Amino acid sequence: MVTLVVGQTPVRAHPPAPPAAPASATPTGNKPDTKTAPKTSVDPLPPGPAKMLVSDTCTSCHTLDRIVGRHMSREGWLGTVDDMISRGADISTGDETKIVDYLTANFGKTAAGAGGGAKR
Ligand code: HEC
Repeated sequence: MVTLVVGQTPVRAHPPAPPAAPASATPTGNKPDTKTAPKTSVDPLPPGPAKMLVSDTCTSCHTLDRIVGRHMSREGWLGTVDDMISRGADISTGDETKIVDYLTANFGKTAAGAGGGAKR
């Protein structure tokens, strides 16, 4: 037996809207920006001996975002770069060492100024 209720207002699951935008930090010495900074030319890689290697070799399949947000030990980077090579990255053994050294120095687990958030 089915009782049909006609004209019933459908119940909408409506999760509460999140609070507006998170308060953005307002720097005190805010200089008026004439134009928006050219984001495309922002270079996320710190200077170093293998910087060009990384920016050349590691960006053909994905952006540097994959790399610069990460903090790994030397073994971690070595494993990652090995993995990239097995995926087709064209990196010689000599370059691999330079890349791993550079990544460990700048994106290592204990790198200073990493901004915390280092995970494994
Ligand atoms: C041949 C293509 C290719 C090249 C070149 C390449 N990668 Fe990758 N990389 C990949 C793929 C594919 C993934 C996996 C993407 C995914 O899972 O969404 C990846 C993912 C990553 C990740 C994330 C790994 C994870 O566990 O999430 C890191 C870090 C990374 N690459 C670093 C590098 C570095 C450093 C280089 C240069 C030495 C490099 N990649 C060059 C293909 C490449």
